[in-house]
Amino acid sequence: MDKNELIEKINELKKKKNAVILVHSYQRQEVHAVADFIGDSLALAREAAKTDADMIVFCGVDFMAESAKILLPEKKVLLPSEDAKCPMAMMANAESLREMKKKYPEAVVITYINSSAEVKAESDIVCTSANALEIVEFYKDKKIIFTPDKHLGNYCKEVTGADIVLWDGYCYVHDEFSIGDIYIAKHEHPNCVLLVHPESPKDVLDIADFIGSTSQIMRFVDENAGKLDEDEGFIIGTEVEIGKALQKKYPEERIYNLAEHAVCTQMKRTTLEKVYESLMEEETEIFVEESIRIKALKALDAMLELSEKLGSK
Ligand code: 13P
Ligand code: SF4
Repeated sequence: MDKNELIEKINELKKKKNAVILVHSYQRQEVHAVADFIGDSLALAREAAKTDADMIVFCGVDFMAESAKILLPEKKVLLPSEDAKCPMAMMANAESLREMKKKYPEAVVITYINSSAEVKAESDIVCTSANALEIVEFYKDKKIIFTPDKHLGNYCKEVTGADIVLWDGYCYVHDEFSIGDIYIAKHEHPNCVLLVHPESPKDVLDIADFIGSTSQIMRFVDENAGKLDEDEGFIIGTEVEIGKALQKKYPEERIYNLAEHAVCTQMKRTTLEKVYESLMEEETEIFVEESIRIKALKALDAMLELSEKLGSK
């Protein structure tokens, strides 16, 4: 089947099965073509929480589909590519977190959504990169354990001054950004503003013009496109799909990826063929053990409620 046929078949199946297709912004452009909703982790969690579809096809990585199942246990949640697993989420485990909690019994545990259900179940509240700063700010009078992303945790620590114990996890895609990448990009594209995701290392964040989550970076470009001088532009310091999507949206603008090595291969495992097969066979279905789900739901709900109250976006 060619791509257009696949898109047609996917749309037919989606209707027949009352399914919704949620797509993370780092997915391939071909997958964007069948999305009911495209967004970052926070927007997708919010969208999943309010869907009335019977089936959710989550085009992203494991922890995202798992979060949807935690929120909506009665729905069938499918991950089209069984091996789309986020390595950062594997860098924390419940047993080590329980050990850390024994060491700091007074601490509030804030866990990045890029984590397993078991780790969320040991946490007080979840956060995403779009609301981490506001959530840390809210708890900054208490000691905080922040897991698993050390760079995002350290960024929140520096901005808010909170007393944070960091976990030693990271995203290999953003962790690989270097000062060298910035010198090259700034040399090749002078007069461009540098926008960077907070999963990046401190030395990179220190020289960025703007630090923000995937959606915040995209919003910055939305708000500034058409306002720059002809020789100015944007350097996008996050997964390469974002620069591609923004350039497609704003063909007149100068938009460059900070580095072409910033590819999340786990995100790219999902293809149109896999979305089609997933809907057809209703696989791979995601399950979360009920006692874990109930505890993880408390931490996820706490995030959804607090970020609504704080107006995070
Ligand atoms: P956001 O979608 O929260 O920006 O996070 C980026 C990411 O790495 C997703 O896995
Ligand atoms: Fe995980 Fe990084 Fe890929 Fe996001 S971009 S899924 S954090 S490896």
